[in-house]
Amino acid sequence: MKRLLVTGGAGFIGANFCHYWSAKYPADRIVVLDALTYAGNPASIASLIEHERVRFVHDDIIECERVTALLREERIDTIVNFAAESHVDRSIEDPQSFLRTNVMGTHSLLEAARSAWSRPSSESYRFHHVSTDEVYGSLGPDESAFTEQTAYAPNSPYSASKAAADHLVRAYGRTYGLPCTISNCSNNYGPYQFPEKLLPLCIVNILEGRALPIYGDGLQVRDWLHVSDHCGAIDLILTASVPGETWNIGGSSNDCNLKIVEMLCELIDAAFTSEPELAKRFPRSAPASGRSSRSLIQHVRDRPGHDRRYAVDAGKIARLGFKLQTSLATGLAETVRWYLENEAWWRSIVSGEYRRWYERQYARATP
Ligand code: NAD
Ligand code: DAU
Repeated sequence: MKRLLVTGGAGFIGANFCHYWSAKYPADRIVVLDALTYAGNPASIASLIEHERVRFVHDDIIECERVTALLREERIDTIVNFAAESHVDRSIEDPQSFLRTNVMGTHSLLEAARSAWSRPSSESYRFHHVSTDEVYGSLGPDESAFTEQTAYAPNSPYSASKAAADHLVRAYGRTYGLPCTISNCSNNYGPYQFPEKLLPLCIVNILEGRALPIYGDGLQVRDWLHVSDHCGAIDLILTASVPGETWNIGGSSNDCNLKIVEMLCELIDAAFTSEPELAKRFPRSAPASGRSSRSLIQHVRDRPGHDRRYAVDAGKIARLGFKLQTSLATGLAETVRWYLENEAWWRSIVSGEYRRWYERQYARATP
């Protein structure tokens, strides 16, 4: 039986991880620690909190003393660190908060683990740090995919802050013997994703009849992974790997942004054709007025420093036993369905500060 601290468990991947872990390992203790920034939403794990499958603690990973006390009180043996500022565009507007949480926050969490786990033995404890493929920088069209040996070359304040955090985690493993692992994962999609990231943003904008902003030519390539596969990979790392290792996780699907958005448009148009009641629920959407969702696509000014291509060589974790469960076609269809069926979840987000963020974004974004 494990006793987990899941930091950032009210965010997109952290919430999915809590649902995954609670269903697969019902006897384990799960404590979520989350600062509830704009991206944190307790509604994403409300059912788990209600049924006492998860204890929710509203706090910040930077609060080392309080986190140390929590680790001791709950006898935590496994930390999975999802807590982060995660949106590249926001890091361009406000790098400071990324340094605070992603670098200093991760450092505080490492210190808390070092204090609370006075005699860490590799069998009983694990500090797993969730990182990104963006630390490796951008690939040219013919360059081979990122392996765990690829040199770090981050290009945005976000990826630079994640790279710094990865280095600290590695250093705490080597210097203090803290039993750490790191995973560097590609672009996730699925339920509970905050609608600032490309896929949920486009789904919500189609349903609201708003433009689908494509940065530059839209030919940037990402490696899309369903979030449930990410959770499965972290499970394998926690249960079947030894400390001191780094793991790349990817979805083996490399399509450009424009193509992915067009796939979403087709899925939503097809849903409107087969379910006439959708036009009544979403009267402002393009398909409700007989137009294709694609007509909403609008090329806008490119993201500064925009990485052109990511691709992940996930051979190492495949040799550990990892197998992808969800294809891109199935995963996208399920994701569209989830947003159609969970309107209340995203409706409560897309107002107020969210709107003001997009007004600022698009004021600068038109080519
Ligand atoms: P998210 O932005 O949806 O959620 C982040 C969560 O962390 C939120 O609940 C937020 O309230 C919480 N948080 C932020 N600052 C905190 C702090 N100081 N203390 C405690 N909690 C804090 O992010 P996500 O997309 O779920 O990403 C989770 C992790 O996975 C991040 O570390 C991110 O870098 C990494 N990652 C994300 C992706 C992706 O495609 N989304 C891919 C690879 C890696
Ligand atoms: O690669 C893993 C990373 O994936 C994670 O580490 C990050 O936390 C996560 O946010 C994600 O970063 P991206 O920058 O790749 O994700 P985003 O959804 O912001 O953008 C995906 C691609 O789509 C990227 O090339 C930028 C482009 N884009 C994005 C938005 C929001 C657009 O063209 N238009 C948009 O409006």
